[in-house]
Amino acid sequence: MTQIWGHRGAMGYYPENTMISFKNAVKQGANGIELDVHLSKDGYLIVCHDERVDRTTNGTGFIKDMACRELRKLDAGTWFDEKYKGQKLPLLREVFDYLVNRKITINIELKAGSVFYNGIEEKLVKLIEDYRLTEKVIISSFDHRALVKVKEINPKIKTGILYLSALYEPLKYLKLVGADALHPYYITIDKHLIIETRKNNIPINTYTVNDMDMVKKLASYNVNAVITNYPDKALEQLENKVL
Ligand code: G3P
Ligand code: CA
Repeated sequence: MTQIWGHRGAMGYYPENTMISFKNAVKQGANGIELDVHLSKDGYLIVCHDERVDRTTNGTGFIKDMACRELRKLDAGTWFDEKYKGQKLPLLREVFDYLVNRKITINIELKAGSVFYNGIEEKLVKLIEDYRLTEKVIISSFDHRALVKVKEINPKIKTGILYLSALYEPLKYLKLVGADALHPYYITIDKHLIIETRKNNIPINTYTVNDMDMVKKLASYNVNAVITNYPDKALEQLENKVL
């Protein structure tokens, strides 16, 4: 049965990558949460999509240049709607505190890996281990070297190859990277990929699907997970089972 993962929480309804967005994705019944992680100047794992805080907060600048205390002072809700004033950029550990005892998959997208953030993979793996979340987490990234690094640190942590354009020989590449899953942009999924992944028992977790007819179609292909901004609508499609 295809799972529904909430993209940056339930970003169709709430300010992306905030606690209120994650909590409501869970309330809507999402089986998983997708979020994005960066490293502050003083080494804290901060949940935010962009490298800069400008678009989604009242601040300005790069996360890598700001200390956790400064980042936590920012308002990450008002840009979306005045009623979400006071939402903060979450620390990853705050999200873990909330999800640790819930039956929810946590898909952590590592933004830019060590290219931008020296040692981010080590810090992330340590936090996952500290919370004993190894079984529930899958780390994805467009920076596939970061995924290799994660596996070098702890081979038990699952990784997923994020990509935007179709890959040549995706299963061979998956093996090369040592990853566990493919995270393709949904447009690139074709019959061949479905057949090959099914044959080799490789999960497909695809993004970002906001067209509900497409959710239905992908569920009929039995992909492992669909990442969407609207978990409630996507779950409704699956419940209707008009496949
Ligand atoms: O993880 C899937 C998706 O979130 C990747 O793209 O830009 O929304 O982080 P983006
Ligand atoms: Ca993401």
